[in-house]
Amino acid sequence: MQTIGELFARKSVRAYAPRPLEPEVREAILAAAIQAPSAGNMSLYSILDITNQSIKDALAESCDHQPFIAEAPMVLIFCADYHRWYSVFREQEPQTRTPGVGDLFLAQADAIIAAQNAVVAAQSLGVGSCYVGDITERSEYHRELLHLPLYVVPAAMVCFGYPSQQQLKREKPRRFRVEDLVYENGYDCEKAAAMRQMLVERSGKDPEELEQWLRRFRIRKWDSAFSQEMSRSCAAMVQAWVCEGQGENP
Ligand SMILES: Cc1cc2nc3c(=O)[nH]c(=O)nc-3n(C[C@H](O)[C@H](O)[C@H](O)COP(=O)(O)O)c2cc1C
Repeated sequence: MQTIGELFARKSVRAYAPRPLEPEVREAILAAAIQAPSAGNMSLYSILDITNQSIKDALAESCDHQPFIAEAPMVLIFCADYHRWYSVFREQEPQTRTPGVGDLFLAQADAIIAAQNAVVAAQSLGVGSCYVGDITERSEYHRELLHLPLYVVPAAMVCFGYPSQQQLKREKPRRFRVEDLVYENGYDCEKAAAMRQMLVERSGKDPEELEQWLRRFRIRKWDSAFSQEMSRSCAAMVQAWVCEGQGENP
């Protein structure tokens, strides 16, 4: 029950108290992350612990200008990583296949599951966190900034720190209801068609207010420059993953 209580209490924290994370707290978060399940127990991820302030500053700019990244006491980038495994497979069998899109999906899942373990562990220690999805933008730039070899790509970035007083008081955004999101034995398009009503109920807004909010939200999140860049960048990332290594195998 304690874990479930923490899951309900957790909310994103984007402003931090001026207090560093104690070394044992950092270690506990990292150790908890790697206890996550992984496909075939292969741990198809690496965690970049960004301690260099100039790299944090660069990320705060490159990840859609979000200054809180530069101020976070701990910044972790969880990367999908097939570099290590493919190296040993290839050493053993030079004709072995190169990592494909399926391998990328699996490694992404491993990386994100480890990230969420870190988030939950941090919460249990009173440490707040916030994901930054924009780490998948500007893939060429991030590859260079973070020295990522082929078959290592960022899956998730998470900022950590003790919450500021204001953040502690901030209300957690409301969720949809369980029955809105759970479909028994297969997808139900009719139920999904009730999306507007789901939004009305979640927000408490009347339908007209909701329509205005939806317009602003769509413009800010969906029809935005950052989401277009994310799609471009991820397509380039997949292209590099699939194509760059092809020449390696005779
Ligand atoms: C994949 C992912 C990407 C996210 N990217 C950002 C981000 O770039 N900047 C940010 O401030 N919050 C980001 N968030 C946090 C969400 O905005 C937040 O989880 C959501 O609004 C729900 O609020 P809560 O976490 O406080 O409950 C991200 C969350 C996830 C899961």
